[in-house]
Amino acid sequence: MTSVNDLRSSFVDYFARNGHEAVASSPLVPRNDPTLMFVNSGMVQFKNVFTGVEKRDYTRATTAQKSVRAGGKHNDLDNVGFTARHHTFFEMLGNFSFGDYFKEQAIEYAWALLTKEWELPKEKLSVTVYQDDDEAHELWKKIAGLSDDKIVRLGAKSNFWQMADTGPCGPNSEIFYDHGDKYWGGPPGSPEEDGDRFVEIWNLVFMQFEQMADGSRVRLPKPSVDTGMGLERVAAVMQGTNNNYEIDLFKRLIASTMQQVGFNGDPTTPSLRVIADHLRSMSFLIAEGVLPSNEGRGYVLRRIMRRAMRHATLLGAQEPVIHRIVPTLVHEMGQAYPELVRGESMIEETIRLEERRFLKTLSRGLQLLDDATVGLNEGDMLEGVTAFKLYDTYGFPLDLTQDALRTRGINVDLTGFEDAMARQRAEARKSWAGSGETGEDKVWFAIADKVGPTEFLGYETEFAEGAVTALLKNGAEVASLAAGEEGFVVLNQTPFYGESGGQVGDTGKLKAEGIAVTVLDTQKFHGVFAHKVQVTEGALKVGQALELMVDHDRRSSIRSNHSATHLLHEALRIVLGDHVAQKGSMVSPDRLRFDFVHTKPVTEQEMVEVEDIANAIILQNTPVETRLMGVEEAKESGARALFGEKYGEEVRVVAMGEPTGNGLGWSVELCGGTHVRRTGDIGLVSIVAESAVGAGVRRIEALTGKAARHRGNTNVAIVNSAAGLLRSGSHEVLDRIGALQENLKKIERELTDARKKLALGGGSGSGATAAADEAVNGVTYVGRTVEGIAAKDVKGLVDTEKKRIGSGVVTVVLKGDDGKGTVAVGVTDDLTARYAAGDLIKLATAALGGQGGGGRPDMAQGGGPDGSKSAEAIAAVRSAL
Ligand code: ALA
Repeated sequence: MTSVNDLRSSFVDYFARNGHEAVASSPLVPRNDPTLMFVNSGMVQFKNVFTGVEKRDYTRATTAQKSVRAGGKHNDLDNVGFTARHHTFFEMLGNFSFGDYFKEQAIEYAWALLTKEWELPKEKLSVTVYQDDDEAHELWKKIAGLSDDKIVRLGAKSNFWQMADTGPCGPNSEIFYDHGDKYWGGPPGSPEEDGDRFVEIWNLVFMQFEQMADGSRVRLPKPSVDTGMGLERVAAVMQGTNNNYEIDLFKRLIASTMQQVGFNGDPTTPSLRVIADHLRSMSFLIAEGVLPSNEGRGYVLRRIMRRAMRHATLLGAQEPVIHRIVPTLVHEMGQAYPELVRGESMIEETIRLEERRFLKTLSRGLQLLDDATVGLNEGDMLEGVTAFKLYDTYGFPLDLTQDALRTRGINVDLTGFEDAMARQRAEARKSWAGSGETGEDKVWFAIADKVGPTEFLGYETEFAEGAVTALLKNGAEVASLAAGEEGFVVLNQTPFYGESGGQVGDTGKLKAEGIAVTVLDTQKFHGVFAHKVQVTEGALKVGQALELMVDHDRRSSIRSNHSATHLLHEALRIVLGDHVAQKGSMVSPDRLRFDFVHTKPVTEQEMVEVEDIANAIILQNTPVETRLMGVEEAKESGARALFGEKYGEEVRVVAMGEPTGNGLGWSVELCGGTHVRRTGDIGLVSIVAESAVGAGVRRIEALTGKAARHRGNTNVAIVNSAAGLLRSGSHEVLDRIGALQENLKKIERELTDARKKLALGGGSGSGATAAADEAVNGVTYVGRTVEGIAAKDVKGLVDTEKKRIGSGVVTVVLKGDDGKGTVAVGVTDDLTARYAAGDLIKLATAALGGQGGGGRPDMAQGGGPDGSKSAEAIAAVRSAL
């Protein structure tokens, strides 16, 4: 038997041998389409290659592509489990030619693979072609030798393929396998074509056009080929069954489900198939970061999950069981899709949480449903209000209610459901209208109400396409923004992060043909992401599809800084103690700031420890993991939350570093921000400042990655230049500076001494005015003006002079560098009875423009603002003798 895994590689290997590049599956959430909900076929990732917008260095490719059809144009949700071939998740095998080969070779490759490589009997195969495609008809005859009755011509409904309302498209040719007359059904085009006997296994699309939004179709630059083969269908053929749910992969998923649920009944029970199918789509979506929510993709995921959960209870499960089947899926598909292995624990936890949440209300909801349908018979309607109540209060998506009533043939009044929904919206509007919201807030409320919350794609990607849903200029909605104008753009989905939780908003570019827009900032209002923009080229209109590009370098720095903030938070707690609680943070591309409770400054030593610990986690280079959890559960698991912050019912929990206990990680925080993939991506964290921001609150600032390295480099360069100037090795710089400082002090001391000496000597070089001793009323009087010495040395000079003359009066005035005067008057002891230095000094200070002065009878000191009056001061003392 050929297993699913063998078939997948056999297909890809075959085309790789034939010159095709084996390309990995793209993510399920499309990056290159403004409105497509999920990738629904192999060609989506090549959409722009077909239209010529994007160039690759190959012209042939082959893939096994994950696909989800559960919302949008191709939606199979309702049928899944009840038919042999419907899936929400499936794999599409494909080969592609981008202007390389066309119809003839596409048919040759397909025929050779099926009949030669896989040895399918030719007589079991038949094909359809587009009604006007004579060429394809002839080629099938020539290459496969099929007779006319095995080549059925059909109309556009079945033989013209397009990805979505817009995008590449073209006539196609489908290959059918005849499972034999033990199954009911007729060939394609016959009234019995929907039976299970003739099954389409491969679709060859001859891509020739692009469907435009305005309804027109333009030719692709070159005719191309897109093919799609459902792996599950072809596996069924190769494994001799007609039902996809009986192939090896599903058998094992179903066996595991039976075991976990404890169900021993019929393995073909639809509920088992629903669970096996839905397990695949939910696991793959969660692995890609889509988490259950009430909006957009998250809501489709939630619907799938809850549908599966209800079917588990139909089988008798009373507790969460679906998450327990995840290991079987990972075992089966993890080799082909390593994201399942990487995300295994996250997938399990997310499912378990959703199961717990849903099971809490399920039985009460089903009771309500039972009560409400008493007396209803096949063909009757359930009231819309009841379906809405189930949706609103019990978390029953509409399709789940429909599914629950399906076996009883009861429908739901959809109009009534919509009405109830509209009434509730109107109520909500009324309540916020009365809540005193201010002007600008009102506009955003109205927009949120009209277009709904923006779907944020930025955890997984920095590039996507989106469509404009609203435009604002000067606080009011407008229909367009012209080149040169500034305003706000709202999109249906966006990779741009809106400022919140301390992390700044993203910047970047929006563009389309002839339109270029710069995003200056992104803010969030009531769930709506507002891109603050300037239009630089063309005019932007509501409805316009755009390519959305986040500034990658800036966002990378923001990611590093945000993750580093978490690491510093935990490291601070370890070093300083459990009282360290976050008091706010700011994460920008340039640096990070973290405020926390701590009553004293963080010491140099503590800072080094904190830095060492955080950098050790960076070096672990473990993946950063994000989970969605209930708030209470998250807090119980030890996740750090901001005290007083209002969190939603479900929160993102970011874990990084190897757990030290049995926790989720070394650092675990409630956080809606964007983070690095692995801690090693941060590179390095370096604390650059520590300060106080309020009573008992400290702030540290830090740099990461390139910025931290640059700062380190700059510091090294400074040290090296200093070493150059000092003519020393850089390791000697400190010693040399120490020695220089010592030397400088010594020189300063010597200089002072020299100046004093000079001042005393009265040499002209000293700046002192030479003065002769004079005799005044028989008393020897010395009056001198000096410069260049310290004020404290003036008295010393006076003493020296007193000693020299033995008996007399001495006045020394220092003309300071600042222009002020300092004066000291000395009287030798034999004369203190006649003259008091304390009196004489007053005369001197007065002459200098000052007041007072004081001291002992033999020595007094004072000063005044005007040092240039030194001669007057000397004369004033003289006149008193
Ligand atoms: N894109 C084509 C399909 O999905 C092959 O059927």
